[in-house]
Amino acid sequence: MGRVQDKIILLTGGAMGLGKAGAKRLLSEGAKLVITDHEADVGRKTAEELGGPVEFLEQDVTDPDRWSEVMDHIEKKYGRLDVLINNAAVTVFGSIADVSYQDFRRCYQVDVDSIFLGCKAALPLMAKTGGSIINLSSAAAINASADLVAYNSAKAAIPMLTKSIALHCARDKNGVRVNAVLPGTIMTPNVRSVIDGTPDPATTEQQFALAQPVGHMGEPDDIAHLLVYLASDESKFATGAAFAVDGGLSI
Ligand SMILES: NC(=O)c1ccc[n+]([C@@H]2O[C@H](COP(=O)([O-])OP(=O)(O)OC[C@H]3O[C@@H](n4cnc5c(N)ncnc54)[C@H](O)[C@@H]3O)[C@@H](O)[C@H]2O)c1
Repeated sequence: MGRVQDKIILLTGGAMGLGKAGAKRLLSEGAKLVITDHEADVGRKTAEELGGPVEFLEQDVTDPDRWSEVMDHIEKKYGRLDVLINNAAVTVFGSIADVSYQDFRRCYQVDVDSIFLGCKAALPLMAKTGGSIINLSSAAAINASADLVAYNSAKAAIPMLTKSIALHCARDKNGVRVNAVLPGTIMTPNVRSVIDGTPDPATTEQQFALAQPVGHMGEPDDIAHLLVYLASDESKFATGAAFAVDGGLSI
């Protein structure tokens, strides 16, 4: 208990899935949370369900002006930001033959541009006190699939974006560390609905599980535990790193 006691944490895409699970664990370790999402109704319901010191703000992470408003709100209300978790993303399925340029761009805007915008908006405030930025990438940054051309390449940009920002922060000696997290396949409600939307869900579920050398998918808490470590001062010497939690998928 108390591993992130009283830390002010902004977590994007917190309405569901890994964001919601991470929020729950961080709250249980004493954090004060601001969760944002573009799904306002679900996000508000999640914040109510979570209880404790958590507030929900509607935010489209691709909107630069909204990032400024969110940061202004946090500075006025809390006076500082200790941790930013760039978690919001979309998965765009399809090969180079199938995916439209519009959908490809959308994947980059939500998955990559949002991290650039989030780090740019948050750093002036975070640099006053130091802190931790955590960027959600994926094992899909390393393991390619013919049918994930947009998502594979967008998620692969994140560890390098993370390294560059980490080096900037180290050079500035501003006390902000920046790391990427690369989950394997984790059973979230959205992964469940992707599986259920295929013609043979049982076979798809088995294929998803066997993609991990350990032979099964992960649970949301497998990632939530790492978020607690990276948000806490326990990770004070870690920066620019890519943490794989993926059942061996990226080996
Ligand atoms: N679940 C997995 O198996 C898995 C594996 C590897 C990486 N990841 C990564 O982990 C993160 C969370 O994954 P998840 O499975 O919980 O995903 P999810 O789709 O369940 O949740 C993503 C959240 O982001 C929100 N979001 C999407 N677009 C947004 C936008 N423009 N503005 C604000 N919010 C937006 C969604 O509403 C949702 O609440 C993502 O970055 C994902 O790529 C997940």
